[in-house]
Amino acid sequence: MVFFIRLFILYILFGMEAKAQVNYDENDIPTYVLPQLLVSNDGTNINSSEEWRNIRRPEILEFLKNQVYGHFNDHRIIVKFHITDYDDGALGGRAIRKQVAISFANDIDTITANMLVYLPLSSSEPVPLIVGLNFFGNHTVHSDPSILISDSWVMNNEEFGIDDHVAPPSTRGVRAHRWPVSRIIERGYGLATIYYGDLDPDYDDGFKNGLHALQGALSKSDQKLNSSISAWAFGLSCAMDYFETDEDVDSDKIIVFGHSRLGKSSLWAGASDERFAMIISNNSGCGGAALSRRRYGETIKDINTRFPHWFASDFHQYNDNEDALPLDQHMLLATLAPRPIYVASALEDQWADPKGEFLSLFNAGPSYNLYGLKVFTNEMMPNVDDPIWAGKMAYHIRSGVHDVTLYDWEKYMDFADKHVRYSN
Ligand code: GCU
Repeated sequence: MVFFIRLFILYILFGMEAKAQVNYDENDIPTYVLPQLLVSNDGTNINSSEEWRNIRRPEILEFLKNQVYGHFNDHRIIVKFHITDYDDGALGGRAIRKQVAISFANDIDTITANMLVYLPLSSSEPVPLIVGLNFFGNHTVHSDPSILISDSWVMNNEEFGIDDHVAPPSTRGVRAHRWPVSRIIERGYGLATIYYGDLDPDYDDGFKNGLHALQGALSKSDQKLNSSISAWAFGLSCAMDYFETDEDVDSDKIIVFGHSRLGKSSLWAGASDERFAMIISNNSGCGGAALSRRRYGETIKDINTRFPHWFASDFHQYNDNEDALPLDQHMLLATLAPRPIYVASALEDQWADPKGEFLSLFNAGPSYNLYGLKVFTNEMMPNVDDPIWAGKMAYHIRSGVHDVTLYDWEKYMDFADKHVRYSN
């Protein structure tokens, strides 16, 4: 009995310690200085969009690739698309549904990821489209019984009744609230999604499964660049390759969207692939939109410890060492200029540091400025449920928890209407 009481006390103490280590107090944020966005590595001031494009932006991307997100080495892989399903009477006759098998092959093996696409039927023109990865399989985004169920590894989830890493048919539509497909179609947008586990199952296996299995032997330096986020972003770029072949879709108007870890991936996809016309980061937090130096909520050490496979191996050297980073996440957002970027937070999602997400966008302003675009001029957090726009930047903090809601989607599409759908 005494033993169990001791054990219980230890459990409580350790639990409290673990919690106490997470900082949720603005007063406890260490003093920090953000690295200079518009000064190049050799000290040159960047004064024009040309200098930004030719000198500073490539420097930042190179660093992000080598030290933060990594790079998916695809040189042995051939990607092909095959439409396996076409229905122009989907969603009660309002949409076209396509399912596209994206096959990734080296000379020995093939891996297939299925992309689910819905397009508004009413449009006679190629449509703008939003693409994003999903967490539990394409069939979870809508109850449409024709959606293929992936047999890739899925994360166990008690609520959804997944306990052996296989998605059962009963999980059809379980994530529908995050994907208001009918409303997206009604607003004139196409929607495409791929299950992220078809690209790379989300656990640390030393990069042996998913698309990594097709890479073959890599040099030491290429191995160091392997990361799940870069594989997921690679998948999004492959989706973009497909859109360029689909005449029903306007490939100049593809918006990349992602929530949380998949928001980190959509940001990296948008930074590394300029074909994406607009980028949406929903609650992407640490390693996404949030500034790392604030060390508020999740830190680099937290993320690298729990998810050692998400980032390039050199990112681990910044655990508890944020000030050594020659950049911060505002520079990732800055590389997106002059394309429209929407960053969104949720009030109860303090783990993702909403304020750090906003400040990152604010501090990305100077690169947008170089293109003559308006930027945020006030560092004050905007009001809850009150989106703010400045030029090609938008931000909102929604009431509620870490999630994607209809509110978020409506705001994204309002912004996309102005900057993508009805812009030339
Ligand atoms: C964890 C992780 C976050 C991530 C989130 C998610 O909370 O710490 O960095 O964004 O999972 O992807 O849902």
